[in-house]
Amino acid sequence: MPVLDIVTVPAKVLRTKADTVKKVDDRIKQLIDNMVETMREAPGVGLAAPQVGELVRVVVLEWGDDEDEEAPKKLYAIVNPQIVKKSNETVLGIEGCLSIPKFVGEVERAETITVKGLNRNGQPIKINATGWLARIFQHEIDHLDGILFTDRATALTLLQDNENPEEIEAQAIVTSKSQPTDSSIDS
Ligand code: NI
Repeated sequence: MPVLDIVTVPAKVLRTKADTVKKVDDRIKQLIDNMVETMREAPGVGLAAPQVGELVRVVVLEWGDDEDEEAPKKLYAIVNPQIVKKSNETVLGIEGCLSIPKFVGEVERAETITVKGLNRNGQPIKINATGWLARIFQHEIDHLDGILFTDRATALTLLQDNENPEEIEAQAIVTSKSQPTDSSIDS
């Protein structure tokens, strides 16, 4: 499976609404597999198809348990994801994006959501997500509508040139001292 190039701002593809997938065929399955590989290589916790230049509604995510760092990460690949329910409760957290290098920002997101869509086999699935998983889903689904986290961020931080992506997380924790439980995500 090839690792794909990740598109960065100001590419137009990141600002374009992605098309609904009509059929989860081999091309889509291959795209999912390549996106998973690309996300892991980056590394990131989520990736949306427009970030690899494909204007189709596909996202992949990999996340563990907010409460248990030892818990194995779980991989999600969702075609045509749709948020069908959102809690009124919101939470602030620090986000980054593989398509917007060097920036992190504080974004308010619904704490709990329900996502419906299709899995890699084209079967309907429904996922209840809370905390960081819910945040990553909202971030990735925004990508499918051409929305970037910087559109929603209430505060943005430009990281120094000499910081590498692995250091973003540490930096983000420093910039969010008021909320010590937060860490950053790059998706
Ligand atoms: Ni992103």
